[in-house]
Amino acid sequence: MHFNHGFRAFDGAQAKEWYDDVAAGNALNDILQNSISIKREDVFIVSKVHPAYLNRVETAVREMFTSWHLNWAKDAIDLVYLHYPECGDWIPDCHGQPRGDWKSAWKDLENLYHDGKIRALGVSNFNLNQLQELWSVASIPPHVVQIWIDPFHQAKPEGSLFLGNGGVVVSYSSLGTQWLRPPLYKNPVMSNPLLKTIAAKHQTSVALVVLVYFLRQHIAVIPRSTFIEHIKANSQLLNPNFVNSILDASDIAAIDALDGQIELA
Ligand SMILES: NC(=O)c1ccc[n+]([C@@H]2O[C@H](COP(=O)([O-])OP(=O)(O)OC[C@H]3O[C@@H](n4cnc5c(N)ncnc54)[C@H](OP(=O)(O)O)[C@@H]3O)[C@@H](O)[C@H]2O)c1
Repeated sequence: MHFNHGFRAFDGAQAKEWYDDVAAGNALNDILQNSISIKREDVFIVSKVHPAYLNRVETAVREMFTSWHLNWAKDAIDLVYLHYPECGDWIPDCHGQPRGDWKSAWKDLENLYHDGKIRALGVSNFNLNQLQELWSVASIPPHVVQIWIDPFHQAKPEGSLFLGNGGVVVSYSSLGTQWLRPPLYKNPVMSNPLLKTIAAKHQTSVALVVLVYFLRQHIAVIPRSTFIEHIKANSQLLNPNFVNSILDASDIAAIDALDGQIELA
């Protein structure tokens, strides 16, 4: 269904806690086998190294090739991230695993990039210090960073660092999903009165206001949806005329000011 509405990127990950690369890889393979119009080069396959594999990155990437039906001898995966800089106890599949370190994992990713197995490298969930350190030790600086960014959590220092260095910033949970976790347990984005007023002014939805806001800041968005009407609505983001036709300077300034405005008490 996403294909019928123009989407071409698969934001996968090795982490079985949250993703299913095997199911996504099988679905993509099915499409490629049965479609004459969509080819491998038309899609963008992404995966993320689970932090339990920081000390065995090549094994992780070989596993991704298997999941995505890629041939180690002749194919490449489009983008691979280090999912987390460390294997924290809160990550279920980290329990009892050896602790690798992200700096040696990055070197291993660089080698796979040089060998042509990976076309672009990225990191996810690195904090500002770790990103700065990465820049100082990398011989291939990261091409992409994927971080939690929503109107109340705009991660501007991390975003500016990356955009200033010519990288691509991808926001995850841009519609506020991360706030459903403790300590807030609710999504403050979709119900925000200011965002609702801006959406009404432009005869669109809060979701599209937020997603357009980030695209206008040169931040890529990867909204997840299982609902066909939302998928159709989100496909408007592929139209630059739509993206540039809503939100005026006062709307942008008002959304800028939401950053950090969440009371957790
Ligand atoms: N790197 C990481 O550590 C990390 C962490 C979390 C997520 N991610 C990635 O980021 C992607 C997106 O983040 P996310 O899943 O946390 O949350 P999200 O995309 O911010 O929000 C998803 C929610 O928004 C709803 N939605 C989507 N489009 C909508 C629309 N037009 N109108 C109204 N509601 C809409 C969806 O509901 P419906 O299904 O009803 O449309 C879903 O409940 C994920 O798919 C994942 O690949 C990465």
